[in-house]
Amino acid sequence: MNYRHAFHAGNQADVVKHVVLVALVEALRGKAKPFFALDLHAGIGRYALAAEAARTGEYIDGIGRIDSATDAPPVVARYLDLVRGFNPSGRLEIYPGSPRLIRALMRPEDRLALVELHPEDHARLQAEFRGDSQVAIHHRDAWEALRGLLPPQPRRGLLLIDPPFEVQGEQLRMAQAIGAAHRRWPEGIIAAWYPIKDRPPVDAMLAALPPLPRAWTAELTLFDSLFPARLNGSGLILANLPWGVEEPLREALAWLQPRLARQGGSWRLDPLPS
Ligand SMILES: C[S@@+](CC[C@H](N)C(=O)[O-])C[C@H]1O[C@@H](n2cnc3c(N)ncnc32)[C@H](O)[C@@H]1O
Repeated sequence: MNYRHAFHAGNQADVVKHVVLVALVEALRGKAKPFFALDLHAGIGRYALAAEAARTGEYIDGIGRIDSATDAPPVVARYLDLVRGFNPSGRLEIYPGSPRLIRALMRPEDRLALVELHPEDHARLQAEFRGDSQVAIHHRDAWEALRGLLPPQPRRGLLLIDPPFEVQGEQLRMAQAIGAAHRRWPEGIIAAWYPIKDRPPVDAMLAALPPLPRAWTAELTLFDSLFPARLNGSGLILANLPWGVEEPLREALAWLQPRLARQGGSWRLDPLPS
């Protein structure tokens, strides 16, 4: 396992993923019933941008481009408020990962399970949430945990799948995992992140998906031409998209795209076959 998210925290892909995540968790909070969230590839939860992230500087072209915006649409504004909550000095020093963003939106009756396989990152994640009785942390393989932890109690909730795509064939494994998760937890919201380097692996992954209810792909690219050697953009497969989230997501992607763009690019929110 070579991938360490600390080098990439707050980059363009994190911004897109985390804005979508905030929209989904906000929708879950819209009803009084408790929810359960499972973050299968959790990372360490909180990133000091002066540490590893400063070595790549990726966050400068991600959260760094929008953190002081005052004209963001509601979903992005909510996400920016959460990020600012971790930076009370007003300077962008800390970037919250998916576990911290979900946790910030939880009510006392909601629960979060975090899975992380990397031994060091797992230890840091454990330290981050020590003493938090609403958060369970698992040191195990995500694909095996998916079978062990689903279906959850309560049954309302969200699954985030966010692998590093460092091994070949991860796209097809993702499609299979989404199918397995949906069979075990048909009512669960699924958000599964993927990189856009080249089009064929993405199209093969989307073609390998089983029919899913209220399913969409949200994508945002930063360049007009795709060069397979670079991260041209990213996307999320969404299933059981809560009612009322589609329009705010369109607004968010339309606002984000020109602000994150490097040389053109585009965004889309398209339905998948159900
Ligand atoms: C893209 S990062 C996660 C970022 C995090 N979800 C966020 O948005 O803040 C992927 C994480 O998955 C972990 N990982 C890689 N393979 C895994 C596996 N098979 N099971 C569980 N975790 C894994 C990596 O160590 C890394 O921390």
